[in-house]
Amino acid sequence: MIRFEENIEQIEMPENLAIGLMVAKQHEKCGTVGCDFDYFGFAFGQSPFPPPRPLVKALEENAGKSGYADAEGIFELREAVAGFNARHFKLEADPERIIIGPGTKGIFFLLFSIISGDVIIPVPSWIGYAPQARFLGKKYYPLSTYPENNYKLTAEELEKFLGTLDGGQHLLVLNSPNNPTGQVYSKSELTEIASVCRKHGVIVFSDEIYALTTFDFSDYVSIGTIYPEGTFVFNGLSKDRSAGGYRLGTCHLPDSDCRKIKEGLKKLAATMYTNITTPVQHAAVTAYRENEEIEDYLNVTRQIHRIMGRTTHDLFTSIEGLRVTRPDGGFYFYADFNELKDELLRAGVKDSNGLSKALLSHPHHIATVTGDALLLPDDNFGARIAYVDYSGRQVYEAYLANMPVNKEEETAFVKKHAPMMVSGAEAVSEFVASLKTGTLQLELQ
Ligand SMILES: Cc1ncc(COP(=O)(O)O)c(C=O)c1O
Repeated sequence: MIRFEENIEQIEMPENLAIGLMVAKQHEKCGTVGCDFDYFGFAFGQSPFPPPRPLVKALEENAGKSGYADAEGIFELREAVAGFNARHFKLEADPERIIIGPGTKGIFFLLFSIISGDVIIPVPSWIGYAPQARFLGKKYYPLSTYPENNYKLTAEELEKFLGTLDGGQHLLVLNSPNNPTGQVYSKSELTEIASVCRKHGVIVFSDEIYALTTFDFSDYVSIGTIYPEGTFVFNGLSKDRSAGGYRLGTCHLPDSDCRKIKEGLKKLAATMYTNITTPVQHAAVTAYRENEEIEDYLNVTRQIHRIMGRTTHDLFTSIEGLRVTRPDGGFYFYADFNELKDELLRAGVKDSNGLSKALLSHPHHIATVTGDALLLPDDNFGARIAYVDYSGRQVYEAYLANMPVNKEEETAFVKKHAPMMVSGAEAVSEFVASLKTGTLQLELQ
């Protein structure tokens, strides 16, 4: 018998795997009753687009660079990232403040391992942070946010919460645009949060992986520009350049203790994985240096995300009983089912984890993410709705060929090019309607 480390039990199945297994199981079950199973894919948060061509070409050209590389990232790339961050986010252009790591997720793990302190996570949250903290034996606090503030943490709430904690350093995770709510923090909100953090010596881990998808990017502000002495800014190639599988993330370090942070990182990297795949690093130089084609790509994909996000949001808003956030960036919005709590309980949906099972069950076939995967308490019936279920390649071409210029055309565009999202919204509407009339049939196991 093989014995396992207890720590591995601290990590629950990541949402994509869990939902994948649920879909497969459901498929099997439906197959036995002759069901032509297809499901509405509101669960997965992967970019639907192919990566920008110059990046793919650069990877082909650099495939021969097979030697080991610097643990913190090759200088050429760190220089390119620093320049990119200065151009887009007004962060200081200093390559010494940049580290390259195994995706944003991987850099979170490395820095959680290096920087001491309990972790504060505003909820609802992306699944990634809490299991890492748990695995590393770090204490973490899920901190509730509220619909009246669009689920954004306020400075007052943070101040109040910090007042309940004992001393010691704390790490605040901020995520803007937010997964799962699609909300973007404004400059004034960040300024207020930063001043609370400065007062209490709180370190900010700012996850800005969706920053460049912000629909109105001219308004985007990184808290790294406001609180440079205490903020780590995380970003990478996964979302805006659609290259999640390249596993390349970046972090812009605070302007204090930079050398010491890097020493820790180099030790960990050298011990665990040596360096990020060398050809990918060389290719990524192209993705971060000034490049007109990549800028065009970012602009076009951002517009498509806006059209898809806002139109799908409008379809969900018209479903009575749901309270839905209006996305300003990222791949998601948040649908609050709490007004239907009594009906859900009556139908046998006991908790928020059960909500995704109910939505997925026959004949609804709606894949979403709920419950633990959003760090929600059991009695909170919220769901993350991802609006990226379409063929990015085709939609990109269609958008360039005929750009929709008003809301009507945008709705028609979504109906034509993302029909599964439109029928998925109808399926949710039917689910809610039958919930209200008490006729909801659930094949829950
Ligand atoms: C908020 C957030 N942060 C980080 C990640 C992971 O990023 P990466 O692929 O760079 O590890 C995701 C991916 O879903 C995400 O939604």
